[in-house]
Amino acid sequence: SIEGEEKLTQECKELLLSLPRERGWRTPYLYLYQGFWCQPAEIQAISTFQKHFQAKNSDIVVASIPKSGTTWLKALTFAIVNRHRFASSKNHSLLTFNPHDLVPFFEYKLYEKNQVPDLSNLPEPRLFSTHVPFPSLPSSMKKSNCKIVYICRNPFDTFVSSWHFSNKIKPGSSPQLTLEETFELYCKGVVGFGPFWTHMLGYWKESLERPNKVLFLTYEDLKRDIYSHLKRMAKFLDCPFTLEEERGGVIEELIELCSFEKMKELEVNKSGKSIKNFENKNLFRKGEIGDWVNHFSPWMVEKLSKVIEEKLGESSSII
Ligand code: A3P
Repeated sequence: SIEGEEKLTQECKELLLSLPRERGWRTPYLYLYQGFWCQPAEIQAISTFQKHFQAKNSDIVVASIPKSGTTWLKALTFAIVNRHRFASSKNHSLLTFNPHDLVPFFEYKLYEKNQVPDLSNLPEPRLFSTHVPFPSLPSSMKKSNCKIVYICRNPFDTFVSSWHFSNKIKPGSSPQLTLEETFELYCKGVVGFGPFWTHMLGYWKESLERPNKVLFLTYEDLKRDIYSHLKRMAKFLDCPFTLEEERGGVIEELIELCSFEKMKELEVNKSGKSIKNFENKNLFRKGEIGDWVNHFSPWMVEKLSKVIEEKLGESSSII
């Protein structure tokens, strides 16, 4: 039987029966849909999104691998694009809404439960987001001049972040799989929207071919030098900071507004729910580079390093 079967359309149920499946991290199974691993409800939403979404040239899409800094990148993108709307950061939407409410996911919000929303009248630029790999984006998104800001993260830290998150949000108190079992799945590419290497390479390749369309960022880039990456993002989004803004400290203000420490302490992020029924507080854990050293044993380091070398090869410098 298929998890959450009663909520799926007949078409989706039939599709699922034809797909390869593997054990899920926190749900019974993940299914291989168009070359990436997903849960049943996600597959239904993604196929509706693929059929119906019409991109506009002015659209901005935040794309990411889960647990690689999506929440942060959404906040930064929203803050850059809407900076003229908020004269002072005191009444900023980011103080009362979680970034996932301001930059909604196609697959968890807009197209979930087989609904087809009318998005045509939203104010422009419309801000959306997705975890879907580049080749599986709707064709209008690939063809149009809409902009995609992409983030991924060192796979060691992404694995650790995903492990903690999936244990927090899964029903029941104990992990469904051990850390080691989950790690083996991760190394085989079996993780939501994985394999991670295919995900990264898809957006990387596109960012090389169409640098005005895809901006490829890493969590580590942002952590190490947020100031210049914020400038880079604004320029890419065709709304560069003016000299006056730079001198007036606007960039520093946005950095502070979106900082881990600031966001974690907001009421909406301590008690609210923004993605499905998950508590926002689980989106803010440590917010650091290198927490993997507290979780990896030597064989795991060796194994994941080999996978990265093998799968990313010369491109492993991208992360
Ligand atoms: P850790 O689990 O390593 O702490 P995503 O937003 O894609 O789900 O990624 C979650 C990761 O980003 C978590 O990493 C989380 O703590 C971190 N994060 C969330 N908000 C952040 C922010 N404003 N600045 C830096 N990191 C942030």
